[in-house]
Formats: sequence, structure tokens, C-alpha cells
Amino acid sequence: MTIMERTLAIVKPDGVSRGLIGEVIKRLEGSDFKIVAIKMLHLTKKQAEGFYDVHKGKPFFESLTDFMSSGPAVMMILEGENVIARYRELMGATHYKEAAEGTIRREFATDIEKNVVHGSDAPETAAFEMTYYFNNLEIVS
Ligand code: CDP
Ligand code: MG
Repeated sequence: MTIMERTLAIVKPDGVSRGLIGEVIKRLEGSDFKIVAIKMLHLTKKQAEGFYDVHKGKPFFESLTDFMSSGPAVMMILEGENVIARYRELMGATHYKEAAEGTIRREFATDIEKNVVHGSDAPETAAFEMTYYFNNLEIVS
């Protein structure tokens, strides 16, 4: 069964500084995902901590939130059938060395942390993450 879904996608600060915004968007559009919201933000450390609250206490939390607040990032809401899982597939596994051939992370990530893109992992996390950055007026329908 197919379900129309929305998910949060981010081009992380490493992707923005390396000029990969266009590359990521090309792949999103090529996969028939509809971009229904988009903005660029330079997160504060506190904003990054709030976004990644689910990872609070983990060994990589400090470094991750430093990285995510180190420069501008591009936040997007994607819409499509089963877009949550399909976008996770397009990104590839968290660690680029384990990511499948042809995925964004396999081709462009340089590190387990600096892995170019973020994507929500479930409907509940997608709902939290989308409202963390966007209000209803910023989402087209
Ligand atoms: O982003 P994804 O959902 O694939 O992975 P996660 O387990 O939710 O972790 C969030 C982010 O933390 C990753 O995308 C990495 O940037 C970073 N991370 C890390 O630096 N070291 C780890 N061992 C695991 C994750
Ligand atoms: Mg995650």
C-alpha cells in the first residue's frame, strides 16, 4: 500500500559549504519527491541541541550539535508516496562506508558525522522535525 507522506530533509553544513545543495536537490526532484517547503538557516548550538534531543547523552551528541551549528544548512519538506522510507534509501546508511552504491552518502559523505544530508526516520519524528523549522504558512499544498 502507498501512503502520501511528508518528511524533513536537510543539506547539512558540510553539504552547503562544499557546494552540494544543487546535487542533492537534483536527486530529490529526479526521484519524484515534491519540495513543498525550503529555507536556509544557520542554527545556534541550542537550536541544534533541541533538534537532536533524541540523541542527547550519546557519545556523538556534542560533536554533532557543534557540527550542525557550524554553518548554514538547507531545510526542506518533501512530499510523496512513502517518501520517508524512499528518501532514507536515497540518502544511504548513516555511515557512508555502509551506504549502498549510488546513494548520496556513499558518493559524498566524508565521515560518519559529516554525511551531507539528514532525513526523518518515521512519521512521528517527521512530524516533530517539520514543525521544528516550519509553520503552516511556509508549506505549499
Ligand atoms: O542521520 P541518521 O538518521 O542516519 O543517523 P542517526 O543515528 O539518527 O544519527 C544522527 C546523526 O548523528 C548522523 O547522521 C551523523 O551525522 C551523526 N552520528 C555520528 O556522528 N556518529 C555516530 N556514531 C552516529 C551518528
Ligand atoms: Mg536519525
